[in-house]
Amino acid sequence: MSGFFITFEGPEGSGKTTQIPFLAEALRQAGYQVLTTREPGGTPIGDQIRSVLSDIKNTAMHPRTEILLFLASRAQLVSEVIRPHLESGGVVLCDRYADSTLAYQGYGHGMILDELQNLLLFATEGLTPDLTFLLDLDVEIGLQRRANGGDWNRLDAYELAFHRRVRAGYHQLVKKEPERWVVVDAAQSPRQIQAQLQAITFQRLQALEGIA
Ligand code: TMP
Repeated sequence: MSGFFITFEGPEGSGKTTQIPFLAEALRQAGYQVLTTREPGGTPIGDQIRSVLSDIKNTAMHPRTEILLFLASRAQLVSEVIRPHLESGGVVLCDRYADSTLAYQGYGHGMILDELQNLLLFATEGLTPDLTFLLDLDVEIGLQRRANGGDWNRLDAYELAFHRRVRAGYHQLVKKEPERWVVVDAAQSPRQIQAQLQAITFQRLQALEGIA
């Protein structure tokens, strides 16, 4: 099998980061070579970019600067980590990817989507996920979860309307490519969410291998 690339998207506090290690473990138990990573970050260079992006002191950051930093981190991650693992036949689970740029910078900040698509193509050399989960959640519940968890960053601090545009943007992206996306209700219990993630992932992998 050639590699399989799965990305996880969703508004703040939707639980992606909690779910990914459990799915990775289930896949490993089934014999897959699994790599988990996250954006922004996932490489030493990307992690340095992540700290600039999330620093609460960087209030002067222009949206264009923000985009280019996300894309710089992604270009490094794709070439250093994701592509080599896919080429060796493995499964990659990535916490956020290009759709986050479209949802946050495109729908959230109102940057032109076509321009972003061109920049994304440049940064990723056209690498798109085989499957994308949207862990969908009411934005107020998600932000509350983040604030309670003490994990609050510069991007979370944008106004509520921004986060609402992001969520609506995700719904638009799902409509444009329904075959790539699977929407999961992130208000369910963590156990229910995990069961759904595993069922769908195994189904897709088996279909790919011609078993199903
Ligand atoms: P997270 O790792 O907790 O999900 O936080 C990353 C933050 O960065 C989150 O607020 C979403 C945001 N983000 C963008 O705005 N654009 C992007 O391209 C990516 C990858 C993340």
